[in-house]
Amino acid sequence: MLLGAIDQGTSSSRFLVFDLDGEIVASNQIEVRQIFPHPGWVEMDPNELINTVLECIAKTCEKLKNFGISPSEIQSVGIANQRETIVIWDRDSGHPLYNAIVWLDTRTSQLAQEYIDRTETKSSDHFKPLAGLPIHPYFSALKLRWLLDNVRAVRESCERGSLMFGTVDSWLMWKLTGVHCTDVTNASRTLLFDLAARKWSTELCAFFQIPMEILPDIRSSAEIYGKFIDGPLEGTTISGCLGDQNAALLGQGCWNLGDTKTTFGTGTFMLCNTGEKAILSKNGLLTTVAFQLGSETPMCFALEGSGSIGGNVVRFLRDNFKFIKEASEIEEISRTVENTNGVLFVPCFTGLYTPQWDPTARGLIVGLTHCTTMAHICLAALRAVAFQCTEMIEAIENDMENSTKIKTLKADGGMTTNRLFVELQAEIAGRNIETPRNTEISAWGAAIAAAIGARLISVADFGSRQTKFARFEPNGGNVQREVEMTKWKDAVKRAQNWQK
Ligand code: G3P
Repeated sequence: MLLGAIDQGTSSSRFLVFDLDGEIVASNQIEVRQIFPHPGWVEMDPNELINTVLECIAKTCEKLKNFGISPSEIQSVGIANQRETIVIWDRDSGHPLYNAIVWLDTRTSQLAQEYIDRTETKSSDHFKPLAGLPIHPYFSALKLRWLLDNVRAVRESCERGSLMFGTVDSWLMWKLTGVHCTDVTNASRTLLFDLAARKWSTELCAFFQIPMEILPDIRSSAEIYGKFIDGPLEGTTISGCLGDQNAALLGQGCWNLGDTKTTFGTGTFMLCNTGEKAILSKNGLLTTVAFQLGSETPMCFALEGSGSIGGNVVRFLRDNFKFIKEASEIEEISRTVENTNGVLFVPCFTGLYTPQWDPTARGLIVGLTHCTTMAHICLAALRAVAFQCTEMIEAIENDMENSTKIKTLKADGGMTTNRLFVELQAEIAGRNIETPRNTEISAWGAAIAAAIGARLISVADFGSRQTKFARFEPNGGNVQREVEMTKWKDAVKRAQNWQK
């Protein structure tokens, strides 16, 4: 029995085929373009998103056939997707009406402030008890509001009653199966979802003036949504759907209370399983749905640290500064220096998320001297990602009851193939880091959800399987760590204030 997984992320689209032990049988990956029309704006082409997914599926099925395996052996498929990013399209034409507005986009910073001012408390946290999230450009609601306010084709389609809204999962699902739905994890990132009632919030939709009829149906993360309409997987069911970070939580085997993982993707996302309890953060974390494995199963919640700093800084050093040709080269170049020679890099190109939630912050490099080289800046970039992750660990430990300590952090995502980076992370955080042998952990989580959703296997069965890990341990002293964290926090403050 084989399982398929679509992983549509901010940097690439992938399709992978797994056996039940999580071994990859065949896969294909295509990098996707990010479009930057103005500083702080980030868009993607919705057609490119679906077309790269279709191409990955076609190429993977070809590979399977070359191995003598029929694609019909894929029993079911799951979707893991970049969250918060929105697509808007017309039901009748089937065409997108604007580029996808990506989670990183900050065009609604001003709008966010206006909406904060409209709340009774004048606080960005006004809706946190309802939705678990602050009013901030990261989430889908304000992006959708912007489209309704600024794009004529969107307004006209809305007036005709044919407008459809979705996060990336909904867009792909609609294209692949003709069904307009989303899952609870994606819905919980829109700032339109009522966490306790498990449905679209009439209060939030009214507040942001969002017509509820354009929203997709909300389903669990593991159930049968529909079947592929055509292509090499025609007739195969899609029975798993969840945000990529939530999929990684499943893939890492974080099934129990307190289990925590970090994914170093385009950004950095740390999720801590809080079981059936939605904990409200006092330390800048988000309350989010972790997953819901079946329509009759209760939702499991998580506290989340979301970071805008991650693999995108490596891409930036490759594409903007041209320090490297391939992302993987950053490890070798960073290893050529012992330390950063006093350089600190805060690569917050589109603001800061956990714990500062400041969309106005902009990147900076401080401590440059005549001796600074490319290698020092590359090393400082890796350390920046590790510092940000360490701030998230501190926030989670402060929020969790019973003094829960994250002694070992499960880590995954593209950057964990960089050994130097994982060593630095262990050192800076002063924690053990475990990285799974299978680095395609979001896709594996989506495949698990698909298997559970199609009732091919039970939750208990997957829960009892152990993934194999490599382990990294810190050796430096606490004092040094504290000094470094203090310097980082000081540089972050400068990134927040340099424009003021
Ligand atoms: O919240 C955004 C996140 O889902 C993006 O994930 O892997 O594309 O960085 P990734």
